[in-house]
Amino acid sequence: MKLNWLIFMQALFLIGLTVNVKATLEKEKCGVCDPTACPVPVGCMAGMVKDHCGCCQVCGLTEGERCDNDTLPLPYKNTFGYCGEKLECRLRTDLPPVDPPEALCVCINQEPVCGSDGQTYKNECQLIEARHKWQDGLQVRSTGPCKSAPHIDFAPEDIHNTIGSYVIFSCEVSGWPIPTIHWLVDRPNGVRKLLPSDDSHIAVQSRGGPSNYKVTGWMQILNLTEDDAATYWCLVKNEYGEVSASARVIVLDAPQKGDSYEEEEEEQSNEQLSKT
Ligand SMILES: *[C@@H]1O[C@H](CO)[C@@H](O)[C@H](O)[C@H]1NC(C)=O
Ligand SMILES: *[C@@H]1O[C@H](CO)[C@@H](O)[C@H](O)[C@H]1NC(C)=O
Repeated sequence: MKLNWLIFMQALFLIGLTVNVKATLEKEKCGVCDPTACPVPVGCMAGMVKDHCGCCQVCGLTEGERCDNDTLPLPYKNTFGYCGEKLECRLRTDLPPVDPPEALCVCINQEPVCGSDGQTYKNECQLIEARHKWQDGLQVRSTGPCKSAPHIDFAPEDIHNTIGSYVIFSCEVSGWPIPTIHWLVDRPNGVRKLLPSDDSHIAVQSRGGPSNYKVTGWMQILNLTEDDAATYWCLVKNEYGEVSASARVIVLDAPQKGDSYEEEEEEQSNEQLSKT
């Protein structure tokens, strides 16, 4: 019993000693701070921070970079550096438990912001990066995305297809508040109609995406008939304005076996694939 106790105390002493030695070594590595001997950092994307000795100014790390944080249980120290302006070095929570822990710079405020350039930034840290990269003086104008009239980023395009087949138009838009998308048709007889109306072979749908603050609308015509040959409009609105774009459906006769239409159809489907 006594022997065990003695070994335990010795072990404690040894642990204490190594911790002490380590701390002393690290301080020695830093040496006496002479700010005039510090190199001047250039091209910092996230502002400047003090190095691990608390002496020289160095570039802060940007969002998503691996970082040091002495208060976290990390298997490394003084390896990557410290996070820049408005960022915090946080433990990754997405790693499998068998992996050694890692920490990344995370923007403290994740809200999108509107810049003085009228652009929406994912968060304040992205705006700060843009300022350092190419826009001296860029400021946060307001929190949340920039308010703007709708804009059509990808307009629907003319489609030709055969009777009995189907066509899909898509319309990709941005704006804030998120605009609504409506589909209209101009029939050759001069009648304009909001879709899907009572047409059971026409379906419309909208969904957020492909990226944040965007929305995409689709209009699908099933079982194409000659009457569907018309001009279709994607009409986009929010409280700041409205904008529209049109495209035509060209209806071809049903293909005969070995007809040249088949080739044409194939070409078209390739085109659609490469667009997605
Ligand atoms: C280090 O991590 C702690 C705990 O997550 C956090 O509160 C602190 O702000 C971090 N320090 C830095 C400099 O990022
Ligand atoms: C497609 O439309 C034609 C003509 O209106 C009709 O005869 C046919 O049954 C429809 N086919 C389907 C699958 O709805």
